[in-house]
Amino acid sequence: MAVTLRQARPQDLAALYRLEQVAFSGDRFSRRQLWHLLNRAHAETLVADDEGRLMGYGTLLFRRGSRRARLYSFCVHPEARGSGLGRQLLEALERVAVNHDAEALGLEVRADNRVALGLYRRMGFRLERWLEDYYEDGCAGWQMSKPLALTA
Ligand SMILES: CC(C)(COP(=O)(O)OP(=O)(O)OC[C@H]1O[C@@H](n2cnc3c(N)ncnc32)[C@H](O)[C@@H]1OP(=O)(O)O)[C@@H](O)C(=O)NCCC(=O)NCCS
Repeated sequence: MAVTLRQARPQDLAALYRLEQVAFSGDRFSRRQLWHLLNRAHAETLVADDEGRLMGYGTLLFRRGSRRARLYSFCVHPEARGSGLGRQLLEALERVAVNHDAEALGLEVRADNRVALGLYRRMGFRLERWLEDYYEDGCAGWQMSKPLALTA
């Protein structure tokens, strides 16, 4: 795999939508939501591009007047999991957040998502708040965050 991490472009919409379908089992974004993320001013999406095939993506949201960026969506194609791409993508997203002057990165994760929780913890994210009944199937979540200034 010769993967390049790059900023998403509006033309990536169809491929991102396909990736969303295979990477998540619920709480997926619609095409309209993805379009909005690709075109809105206060979001940045990075994609993992394997010679034209999208193998992962992550989206950050920024709020005017806030130094806290939010990891809004993040996934790797099932065929590419377990080879370090998730970590690589997350590290690149942290650099994007730092370039936007963010001092912290926050996220929400399903309480039953052991792989993602493990990755976030090993990358320095700490549990912040329990989110009862947070997902569409009633699953609880964790809000987590990581200070960025210390790692930048
Ligand atoms: C979470 C996700 C992005 C991780 O992507 P990935 O490319 O597999 O991640 P990596 O290969 O970088 O592995 C990250 C860590 O998890 C571990 N890991 C990966 N797959 C694992 C598995 N099936 N079981 C246990 N540990 C696993 C790796 O050992 C690695 O640990 P390390 O950083 O200490 O070496 C991916 O599993 C995914 O897309 N899941 C579905 C969508 C999702 O849950 N997104 C997050 C929403 S909050």
